[in-house]
Amino acid sequence: MTTILQINSAARSQGAQSTLLANELTEKLQQSNPGAQLVVRNLQAKPLPHLDDSILSAFFTPADQRTPEQAAISARSEALIAELQAADIIVIGAPMYNFGISSQLKTYFDFISRAGISFQYKAEGAEGFVTGKKVFVVTTRGGQYVGSPDDTHTSYLQTFLGFLGMTDVTFIYAEGLAMGPDVASAALAGARDAIAAA
Ligand SMILES: Cc1cc2nc3c(=O)[nH]c(=O)nc-3n(C[C@H](O)[C@H](O)[C@H](O)COP(=O)(O)O)c2cc1C
Repeated sequence: MTTILQINSAARSQGAQSTLLANELTEKLQQSNPGAQLVVRNLQAKPLPHLDDSILSAFFTPADQRTPEQAAISARSEALIAELQAADIIVIGAPMYNFGISSQLKTYFDFISRAGISFQYKAEGAEGFVTGKKVFVVTTRGGQYVGSPDDTHTSYLQTFLGFLGMTDVTFIYAEGLAMGPDVASAALAGARDAIAAA
């Protein structure tokens, strides 16, 4: 059975454009994959903490030497990686905030990036273990940056996901949402066309 993992990373609990479009994409994917199981990871409702001494010491202490607190922190990260590994299709709602991803998505990335569990370095370079996934990233932006050097949002997401082994990534953009109603409605229509074609 196909499993779809939808990761919502907007800061708003209601009305976030990235979440609304990600919901529409997930519905479309459920139609084209009848019976697919849907798992929703809502990073706004269940935020992850920023990396700090306790989290990093938990990650880097060998499993058989962890304190109970460190074991619980490591288990939280490993459960997120297992959830990701169990998915066949991953939909990420990724708004642009201050030219980057939301801090909600960044802490999630910090929790799923674990040496020896989701990637490893070898003499030839890095190897990601999260392979065989189809990933869609739905990005929403107030301005327009696709194709310009200012679009570091896309290249960062591509690099990070590729590092973990997710190389089949399709971006769906709704850009210019703050540029007046005409630009915004054209952007949403364009995103919906891309969703229909997904
Ligand atoms: C805190 C914050 C920072 C933002 N920074 C940018 C930005 O750097 N570039 C941009 O084009 N839009 C920026 N925007 C606009 C958002 O990308 C836009 O409102 C988008 O719809 C947000 O997605 P969401 O509705 O899913 O949160 C920002 C919005 C917020 C709330």
